[in-house]
This record gives sequence, C-alpha cells and structure tokens, in this order.
Amino acid sequence: MTPVKAFPSNFQWGVATSAFQIEGATGSDGRGVSTWDTFCREPGRVHGGANADVACDHYHRWSEDLDLIASLGARAYRFSIAWPRVQPSGTGAVNAKGLDFYDRLVDGLASRGLAAVPTLFHWDLPQPLEDAGGWMNRDTAARFADYAAIVAERLADRVSLWITLNEPMVVMAYGYAFGTHAPGLTLMLGALPTAHHQLLGHGLATTALRTAGARRIGIANNYTPAQAASDRPEDLAAAEAFDNLLNWQFTDPLLRGAYPDLGVDLPHVRDGDLATIVAPIDVLGVNYYSPVGVAAAGAEEPLPFTMTEVPGAPLTGMGWPVVPDALRRLLLTLRTRYGAALPPIQITESGCSYDESLDDQPRIDYLSGHVDAVRAAMEAGVDVGGYYVWSLLDNFEWAEGYGPRFGLVHVDYETQRRTPRASYAWYRDLIAEAP
Ligand code: NOJ
Repeated sequence: MTPVKAFPSNFQWGVATSAFQIEGATGSDGRGVSTWDTFCREPGRVHGGANADVACDHYHRWSEDLDLIASLGARAYRFSIAWPRVQPSGTGAVNAKGLDFYDRLVDGLASRGLAAVPTLFHWDLPQPLEDAGGWMNRDTAARFADYAAIVAERLADRVSLWITLNEPMVVMAYGYAFGTHAPGLTLMLGALPTAHHQLLGHGLATTALRTAGARRIGIANNYTPAQAASDRPEDLAAAEAFDNLLNWQFTDPLLRGAYPDLGVDLPHVRDGDLATIVAPIDVLGVNYYSPVGVAAAGAEEPLPFTMTEVPGAPLTGMGWPVVPDALRRLLLTLRTRYGAALPPIQITESGCSYDESLDDQPRIDYLSGHVDAVRAAMEAGVDVGGYYVWSLLDNFEWAEGYGPRFGLVHVDYETQRRTPRASYAWYRDLIAEAP
C-alpha cells in the first residue's frame, strides 16, 4: 500500500473520462457531427473500423457510472463536454437538450458530493468548424470562447474547476501534423498554427469563463519528457528540440508569455495574442503517461529528431514505457522552469492500458509507482493538488478503437456490464487511507 501521509486532506483524488470516448448516443437529442464521427467513417482510420456510436453508452448510463465514482470514495470527476451536443454547428444556436445532459450530470455529481471538473474541448470539434479550417483557422479560437461562455453561464455555479483544452499537443501532432487522429491531416510543421490557435482559444475562453462566473480555470497539457538516446551533442540537441516542440510550446506561452525556440518563424502569431494566452490560470493540469527516447534525425528527415525506445523500461499494453520517476522529474522541472509563475498542479490524467483481465496487478503497480512519484515531488516542494486516474471505464481509445483497456472498471461492450477490477479496490483503499 502506498503511504499517503504526504497528501493533504483536500487532495482531489479523482478519475477522468471524455465525452467522445464514453458517451455513445452520437445521434441523440440534437447532437451535431464531430470530426471524430467523420474520421471513424473513413476506411482505415480506426483500428477494426470501430466507431463511438455506442461506446460505453454513458449518455444513458451516467447515473450508474457516477455511483461507481462515488463508491470509489473519489472526490472529483473530470469529464468532458461535447461541443457538438451544446452547439451542433460549432457556432450560433444552442441545443438545449445537449446542455441539459451536462446540467443533470453536474447535479448528479453534486448530490453525490463529488467535485465537477469539466473539460470543454477533448478533441470532438464540431465538423462544420473543421470544414471551415478547424484549428488551422484563427476564427475557431473565438468560436471556442463563445461556446465556453454558453456552458459556463449554465454550469458555473456548480463547477469546481474548468479545464479549457485537453492535450493541445496531441491535436496538433496527431490530428494535423501526422494524421493519425481526426481530422487526419499530414501538415507536419505546417500544423504549428493549430497549436497557437488552440492556445489563443484557451486564453479567450479563460476571460469568457471568468466573465460568466467561473471560479477556477486550468488546462490539461500532456507531457512526454524526452530522454536523449545518448550523451552525444546531436542527441542532446534533438531531445531539446523535441521538448520545445511538443512539451514547452504548450506551456511557455501560458506561463511565460513567449514561445520557446521552435527553429521556425511563427507568422500566424499576432500582436497581443501572447498577452491573451498568458492570462492567469489557477491550475496547470498535467497529463503524464510515459517519457520517450529521442535521437538526432538524418538531414533528410522532416523533423530534427526521431523517437527511440527508453532502455530497460517495462511496457504497458500500448507498448508505452513505464517510468514513474520521469513524472517526479517532470514535476521538478516544471517548478524550476517556471518558478513563481507556476500555478498549483493537478495530475489530470495518469493511467495505463493492459489486457481485459479483472485481476490487473500491473495497473496497480503502475498507479502505485506514479502516486509515489507525485508524493516524492510534493515532498520536494512541488504544489500538487490532485490526481485523476485515466480512466474510470474501458473506453474508445481513439485510433486504437476498443482494443486498449484503460479502466479501473471493465466494460463488456456487448452487454454494457461494468465490473470493477482489482485496481478499483486498490484505488478505493488508497483514497480511504488518505487523511
Ligand atoms: C490522453 C487522452 O487525453 C485520452 O483521451 C486518452 O484516452 C489517453 N491519453 C490514453 O491514451
């Protein structure tokens, strides 16, 4: 059992999910089409040709799912709001039934004593906005702020912490640069405007949320720390280039008001944008899964680095290296890099996929190691206020479909039966032991 004495009594032990990955009911109650609905229908995009039309059917089973969170003794639930349910076209008219669903969900959390932590954008962009250029189009930032205001006007009185964006790096890299996620574009470094427009959207939404009564606001960035493949100067430089492009690009503008050196010009950044993006936030959300080995790339490669293995690390079911100490080091690096500008951190996602088994000792080992790493960082003085396991349920793992299973709770997709795994009991006991 992980010793938990270092955790304060108000530490937000939680679980996380996202709308597209669990809700299903994609055609119900006036929901519009998202980029991911479109992407799933394009042959060869998603493993096994899977889609999320049903997923975990959470849209109809949300009450049972909230009971599972309550029985865990968790204090907070991080979920996401589907923009296409609230504004089917991504702009203009509001779909009352969509907003009503999240109103019920938030009330359901309050009645169970759970803090509501909604994410406003977890990748399911309304398709009409993508048709107009998506995050390549600067106007999407303003549309995002409008949507944020609509949601906050309805829910702000019951939301504990707002998360604007989930993992803007993944949207840029997989969605627009490499094309393995929706919308499936392969722009490589041409995708850089999508990073800036998301961050601009975050900044505009932060102001809109506060105007609508939001109390606490953050963003969930993911961090994949680069480990240089060797001490050779070219590998060290490649690791630094990787960190700048994929990690610091998404945090420096927020906390320093400037981009790191990305090795290219950023003509899409206009005067005043960085002042908008650096608007104070209350929490920095850290999603962390694994580090990556990085080596110098050949001159003919489109990027200045290539990704390699992390030597000696065991792998999860996704093939991701398990290195809990990289999380501790990351948290210390964030404190050193940003100093007094670093707001309190919450670990907004931490988790792993393994096979279907209910006796999931590898997941317990993974989570236990990462909780220990958080504790060690806190003992070294980093302010961390919460930890959310990804995920409550097995769910739709994007381009991987339903193969990977990240849940504390197993989902039988035929029957929609939920069965808590051993890791669920482990996490429940850990929370119960905490002060
Ligand atoms: C991060 C993403 O936010 C989430 O949607 C995804 O399922 C997990 N990583 C696991 O890949």
